[in-house]
Amino acid sequence: MIEYSLEKARKYEEEQEKKIPGGDRPVFHFTPRVGWTNDPNGFSYYGGKYHLFYQYNPYDVVWNSMHWGHAVSSDLLRWEYLPAALAPDREYDSFGCFSGSAVETDSGEHLLMYTGVRKDEQGREFQVQCVATGDGENYSKYSCNPVIDVESLPEGFDPANFRDPKIWRTEDGGYRCIAAAKDSAGLGVLLLFSSEDGFKWKYEGIPVRNDGSFGRMWECPDFFFLDGKAVILVSPQDMRPRGNEFFNGNGTLCRIGTFCEEEKRFIPEADQAIDVGIDFYAPQTLLAPDGRRIMIAWMQNWDTCSSLGYTPHDWFGQMCIPRELFIREGRLYQRPVKEFEALRGEKAAYKNVIVGGKGQNSAVRESAIRLEGIAGRCADIELELYPAEGKEPCHVFEMSFAEDQTHRSVLRYRPFENLLETDRRESGSRRGHLQQRSCKVADRGGRISLRIILDRYSAEVFVNGGEQVMTTAILTDQTATGISFSAIGCAAMDIVKYDIKQA
Ligand code: FRU
Repeated sequence: MIEYSLEKARKYEEEQEKKIPGGDRPVFHFTPRVGWTNDPNGFSYYGGKYHLFYQYNPYDVVWNSMHWGHAVSSDLLRWEYLPAALAPDREYDSFGCFSGSAVETDSGEHLLMYTGVRKDEQGREFQVQCVATGDGENYSKYSCNPVIDVESLPEGFDPANFRDPKIWRTEDGGYRCIAAAKDSAGLGVLLLFSSEDGFKWKYEGIPVRNDGSFGRMWECPDFFFLDGKAVILVSPQDMRPRGNEFFNGNGTLCRIGTFCEEEKRFIPEADQAIDVGIDFYAPQTLLAPDGRRIMIAWMQNWDTCSSLGYTPHDWFGQMCIPRELFIREGRLYQRPVKEFEALRGEKAAYKNVIVGGKGQNSAVRESAIRLEGIAGRCADIELELYPAEGKEPCHVFEMSFAEDQTHRSVLRYRPFENLLETDRRESGSRRGHLQQRSCKVADRGGRISLRIILDRYSAEVFVNGGEQVMTTAILTDQTATGISFSAIGCAAMDIVKYDIKQA
């Protein structure tokens, strides 16, 4: 049954958006125009602007009736909402226009490729790949959709798990896409397709499959070449932890390797988690005109978004800060897009601040200090931590933020164990789900370099030049603006903090 129309969604979002005051949203992180978002979709550069589409339920702050919302930006940070692009208004996508991606065609059109989902009378789900073309604002679904039907699936594959096509252009002017599917063993597989025009697709094979090492089904694949390597990003479901690298539940995985064109096969060399924080899922990349590979992701996660418990806003779901990707020594590195530096305002800087010194048996908070000019919920902070010369060694270092009498979120470093921890137990959440996570960081003799990007409802921590990133969403009331530092033992710290210019 068709319940939704694009016209209805566009009218609704235009009216409802007015009810959300600017101060109710993050300053430079994307949120849906109204209602719910999960994955970023169709992240692309088209017509001189960056386009971001997103999984969107305008009508409520919970997942339902997947539409594609739409926004454009010139700097990847300040987004202008455009009218919703797709509604689940056809039989083949009546249960939702699920995730997908976008490219430009030879004739200059913007081509969206997405998963159409329908249910039959017995409630069985079918996922097929569809396309729509447009001018950057209005899109028409192709009259011969779906362009890749469930018949294209290899024998024994599940028609209810075939989704999230990532499309790209090849050097010879052709098109390729990979989509995620579930094989007869219930494990994730990526299927490769090729096309000459973006409409007629040919199955090419299975470049990579889950041998059971990384969860079960894989969602939201991406594939690209970067710094001489082939890179695959996926979001596996039902992960089991591996040390402090991978965690239970919905995770993210980056596989770096080579691609054998003849056999259409990806040969992995190294694997890592893309983000080691609490709230990150479904990343998607684009190639910017200047050659940068830029990634954006949902700054929530299915396993933990309910831990926020409720939302005080008429929107739910944020995207992470867009991040430039590069490979160094076989690892994926990330840094906030360079455009972010233009948003830096007032600066406060300190060198060689000694934190701690109350004795090894003291409580960590006993030594808490605050520094003039270092406070607020929106900031770009560079923090270098190192052993304090001639003083007792540091066992635990804490930076507390979004702090008041009763709240704080904590970034905690344990130099002897080389552990970095994000902890939002006291951020105001009333849920008992996951509120803390640790990751192993490089052993640099008690030194660590952190770039901490704070916005009203989140903290993203880029560790040691982007070797790891730890992302956490928080809902703490905006009146909690304190930032403090404390330690057991002694640590020395250089810190530079920039305010963020608010448009
Ligand atoms: C990932 C995901 C995708 C799907 C979409 C539906 O978060 O489950 O696989 O296309 O969300 O909203």
